[in-house]
Amino acid sequence: MRVLVRRPRGGLAGTIRVPGDKSVSHRAGLLGALAAGPTEISGFLESEDCLNTLGTLGALGVEVTRKGPGEYRVEGAGLQGLQEPDDVLDCGNSGTTARLLLGVLAGQPFWSVLTGDDSLRRRPMGRVTQPLAQMGATVVGRSDGSRLPLAIRGARPLKALRYRSPVPSAQVKSAILLAGLFADGEVSVEEPVPSRDHTERMLRGFGARVTADGRSVTLASGGELRGHAIQVPGDISSAAFFLVAAALVPGSAVTIPGVGVNPTRTGLLDVLGEMGADLRVTDGREGEEPSGTLTAGTSRLRGARVGGALIPRLIDELPVLAVAATAAEGVTEVADAAELRVKESDRIATLGAELAKLGARVEEHPAFELAGPVGLSICCFRFVPPDLPEGSGREAYLSVLNERLMAEMQVDGRVFLSNAVLGDRFVLRVCVVNFRTEAQDMDAVLEVAEELGSKIDGELRPEDLR
Ligand code: S3P
Repeated sequence: MRVLVRRPRGGLAGTIRVPGDKSVSHRAGLLGALAAGPTEISGFLESEDCLNTLGTLGALGVEVTRKGPGEYRVEGAGLQGLQEPDDVLDCGNSGTTARLLLGVLAGQPFWSVLTGDDSLRRRPMGRVTQPLAQMGATVVGRSDGSRLPLAIRGARPLKALRYRSPVPSAQVKSAILLAGLFADGEVSVEEPVPSRDHTERMLRGFGARVTADGRSVTLASGGELRGHAIQVPGDISSAAFFLVAAALVPGSAVTIPGVGVNPTRTGLLDVLGEMGADLRVTDGREGEEPSGTLTAGTSRLRGARVGGALIPRLIDELPVLAVAATAAEGVTEVADAAELRVKESDRIATLGAELAKLGARVEEHPAFELAGPVGLSICCFRFVPPDLPEGSGREAYLSVLNERLMAEMQVDGRVFLSNAVLGDRFVLRVCVVNFRTEAQDMDAVLEVAEELGSKIDGELRPEDLR
């Protein structure tokens, strides 16, 4: 790999923007589709996962128009307006698309078939299909209806449900709440510890009656959703990589405005603060989703113990927390994180394998543990240039590169990005993976790298990849 994006000698310094929040983007598309009237979305995350959600909505007869980068208009079909898809709905790699969509489809009087990529077809869906079946939906599919591909036929109306979820999962909670829009009575979900509450907040914004009480949330039956404008905040899960990078790279000061700081998502900020990170949230703005400016600088970190109710608040940031732990003095212990085993990969295993390549050891009990600080070696990856037909654009080239990259690493995006933070050329690796999962726009991400003071030696060309 010969595209050299070098870490600046003086550290990472500057102001950057991160792409829109993934969870909020999915929900904006889905609820916009079910509303009466149009929903204008800005800051939508144009990643494969969120575009898959829009694609499936298109297949269900919803008109979605891209008006500009991250700007979409969804013509709401109303609660009764979705149409039977004439082909299989492909959710790609996106668990959020599959599970939330199952909730919506449970209330549709027609058959739909859902599938996904290799990773998604391995992930558990029974946690969603079981409660939906209790509400009256018919689901058949692999592993007794608990693995994709799945076929679902909805019922109208669905039955009311009081559900006690065995796992703290916003996807399970959201699927049931979305199905609740089609129920003839109240639905409520109780979780072992609260998970992210974007669905509840957005449902209220669309006019639904939702109440929350500690670990329980209830949706009243009846009523319509009304389309409205949604501004998606920056994704704290993307900001997390830069916050940890700033803490680890000497001489750094990074500012990230417009990041979502919903308290159900800010667990990493709490833990990094406890570890001694120089981290601030300023310019707080209230709204359907609160946001603020995050600032991080080089820090001396110490180990921390993480578990319990904190886990769902930083579930997607645990890989990058493990990276922070390699630089921290003392042991960092993460308990109650079994959910990591059923993400895009078994993230505890892949973290162990990937960090081992760099010289760090992750001990696995049921909890995982890392003793720092660890002197890490820099890991280099080699890529064979893909054979593309002559005249293929840079975009096609990069997308093949990314496929290879993911295959080669055998990890999922978040673990890879976390390791990327460690490398001397971490920004390059952030760029490459961000291209696939976050920005879909290599130039924009390279600009971010430059804003942070990185030096970029030239354009990405096929010959650079030898
Ligand atoms: C998400 C919830 C979390 C998270 C995922 C997005 C959501 O998954 O890991 O990246 O948007 O609801 P679980 O609900 O399975 O914990």
